[in-house]
Amino acid sequence: MSIQVRSTLPFAGQRPGTSGLRKKVTVFQQPGYLENFVQSVFDTLGDCSGQTLVLGGDGRYHNRVAVQTILRMAAAHGYARVLVGQGGILSTPAVSCVIRKHGAMGGIVLSASHNPGGADGDFGIKYNIANGGPAPESVTEAIYQRTTTIGSYRISDADEIDLSQPASYQLEQMAVQVIDPVADYAELMQQLFDFDAMRALFAGGFRMCFDGMHAVSGPYALAILEGLLGAPAGTVINAVPLEDFGGHHPDPNPVNAAQLIAIMADDDAPDFGAASDGDGDRNMIVGRRFELTPSDSLAVLAANATLAPGYRQGLAGIARSMPTSRAADRVADALGITCYETPTGWKFFGNLLDAGKATLCGEESYGTGSSHIREKDGLWAVLFWLNLLAATGKPVQQLVDEHWARFGRNYYSRHDYEAIDAHAASELMASLRIKLPSLAGQDLGNYVVDYADDFAYTDPVDGSISTGQGVRIVMTDGSRIVFRLSGTGTEGATLRVYLERYEADPTYHHLLTQQALSALILIAEQVAGISGWTGRARPSVIT
Ligand code: G6P
Ligand code: ZN
Repeated sequence: MSIQVRSTLPFAGQRPGTSGLRKKVTVFQQPGYLENFVQSVFDTLGDCSGQTLVLGGDGRYHNRVAVQTILRMAAAHGYARVLVGQGGILSTPAVSCVIRKHGAMGGIVLSASHNPGGADGDFGIKYNIANGGPAPESVTEAIYQRTTTIGSYRISDADEIDLSQPASYQLEQMAVQVIDPVADYAELMQQLFDFDAMRALFAGGFRMCFDGMHAVSGPYALAILEGLLGAPAGTVINAVPLEDFGGHHPDPNPVNAAQLIAIMADDDAPDFGAASDGDGDRNMIVGRRFELTPSDSLAVLAANATLAPGYRQGLAGIARSMPTSRAADRVADALGITCYETPTGWKFFGNLLDAGKATLCGEESYGTGSSHIREKDGLWAVLFWLNLLAATGKPVQQLVDEHWARFGRNYYSRHDYEAIDAHAASELMASLRIKLPSLAGQDLGNYVVDYADDFAYTDPVDGSISTGQGVRIVMTDGSRIVFRLSGTGTEGATLRVYLERYEADPTYHHLLTQQALSALILIAEQVAGISGWTGRARPSVIT
């Protein structure tokens, strides 16, 4: 066993995006590609002697190979210890939890979240810092700069480590601890939620369907729902993580999780349905014959948070991304706390959580989380809902109906135009931005524009400013249309149009969402000229 210094040449394009470096598997398979990036991470971090690193991924294709490489490189960089998930598996929230619990210096997550997996699919790598959250842009930018000049990397020539069982090994001077990927996470969940009440719920015949989508959440859901909570066998479907996610798209929304939606629409549907994504940080909540938007989910959790033991003291504040509906704002008003509005991207919540300004956070993109870790957390949201159902004895739809009756309903939908021409997409946005100053006060259909702007955010903790975060047209009655380009797509550009209408009157709380939003949908087309710019008569995905 010895440490080798191998020479290498820079690869172009290793700049991490919203959630780390994501590329096709075939790109990562080029000799030195992963090594260059990992060495750049280590070089950016500097001295790691005596430190602990957490390592794991969502089990997608290339995960096994990459984990072994990173272990041998960490050993050559002087880490004292690596905590690696059994089988190389750790969900994104579990990495965050393990970093925090064991005082690690940071962690490496191998995932491309909900992007397709398999030999032709995507792979990704992301570095998280000591608070358990994604590295800030200053760090990812430094990593990128390093990738442009790198000339060599250090790696041990040791043999593969057997990750199939929890065990301890020595690799050069470094200890490798293969850990149960679920244990620390399950322990944290038991501190936050009333496991006795949830156990009693299942013992009383309550039925649930959790769709693991053949991704990383399966083992966590099996251990916690069917194991600790005694849910009947078969509660978790598609529970075994597969390297290609069974050919499915592990992104929980009503379009991709069609099997779950069909099960929940059945006459004999279970009481509660939920799904999570590739790396376990997203969630979708479904009631019996009832779909819930992530925005409403956040608002209901916030309004009822004190029913869960971990949130009994109440919330310091709520935070949501700008395009997320303003349902949570109404709850914050009622609670007398602040609702922060941040740009899209979980990283913007980090400072608010660290500073104790926000307790719950949520995004329309099926992400919900809290101060318990520094990533969004799919199974946590599901357990939170289960805790509410157990504490109130009410079904999902009743809880939501009562919520709307109290706070009003924010009808909400997102229209995506995927894989459109990137140039046309930026022209569309540019022409919208030109119109912004003239929109205020204008009549659009039955609406009057209150204000229209390009969202900018000043972080209340460190004062950093982010501009150009999405065009919003806000009507005098609080309805909104938001336009932005996706920051996560890999093909062309994706235009997202977010539509929101506020309705206070309970007589109008049970309209079909697309019908309730039809006037706003028309206005969006008129103002932005979507079909003209994109050549598309309708969105490719509606959620
Ligand atoms: C990732 C991030 C989320 C973000 C989402 C938005 O999932 O972790 O924080 O909301 O991307 O993606 P978009 O494609 O809309 O930029
Ligand atoms: Zn994810």
